[in-house]
Amino acid sequence: MKDILTHAEAGVMTLTFNRLERKNSITSAMYAALADALEAASADPATRVALLQGHETVFCAGNDIGDFLNQPPAGADSPVFRFLRGIAQFPKPLVAAVCGPAVGVGTTMLFHCDLVFAGDNAAFSLPFVNLGLCPEAASSLLVPQMFGYHRAAEALLLGEPFMAEAALEAGLVNRVLPPTEANAYAQAQARKLAAKPLGSLVETKRLMKLGQQGPVLDRMQEEGASFSRMLREPAAREAFTAFMEKRRPDFSQV
Ligand code: COA
Repeated sequence: MKDILTHAEAGVMTLTFNRLERKNSITSAMYAALADALEAASADPATRVALLQGHETVFCAGNDIGDFLNQPPAGADSPVFRFLRGIAQFPKPLVAAVCGPAVGVGTTMLFHCDLVFAGDNAAFSLPFVNLGLCPEAASSLLVPQMFGYHRAAEALLLGEPFMAEAALEAGLVNRVLPPTEANAYAQAQARKLAAKPLGSLVETKRLMKLGQQGPVLDRMQEEGASFSRMLREPAAREAFTAFMEKRRPDFSQV
């Protein structure tokens, strides 16, 4: 599909968000394509590493808000939840290159990547509360673990963006680069990984995450139930309608 480009070379499966006219926000069809690609990459012995990237001006503006309004995910098998479980369980190295805005799932997916390289224009945000929602992708578990509770509360309760240098300091990002170099640098690191013995990579990742996967999947499920309910409630409907109408949301009645 044209909104997600898939390119396999030198053992690296590169998945590129390619919906620039909507700031690479992700539709249901894109989640399905991503979930299918990760499943295929996981099974295909020729794929040793997967790389997620956007454009040097924008990584991903989160879920498509029109989709949230018109066809909110229903049930654990909906494409968004398949994608989230797919990145949480991906057994091979998963690398990301992030430039420009990374909103909502654009940031939460990074907590499931093994290496993250950011352009110095990267702006991460977790605006779930501002949208009448709650965290997803196990971010209510993983953000406090990585950032410490109070910085996590700042990111998740206030929902204000934080920039590449703050993400580097918090441990979410491995290295900050000029935006024009981020995708190429991430590709070079991915190829370095792809040249290593796959069995050692997979076993090392499995061991590093041992004990973590069950709690992550449990948290995703619990968040998913709340998130799906809240998507249909008045606060979120007001936030999405306000975004579509290009006005500030009015939460005084909800
Ligand atoms: N869903 C649907 N459309 C989106 C979108 C989203 N998540 N994010 C951006 N777009 C659309 C805009 O509506 C706009 O459409 P238009 O050209 O018809 O007016 C177009 O993409 C360009 O976006 P714009 O807001 O003008 O770009 P910007 O550079 O000023 O800002 C962002 C970029 C990412 C900061 C801003 O678009 C944004 O905050 N998007 C919403 C993010 C969000 O809340 N996502 C949900 C997280 S759960």
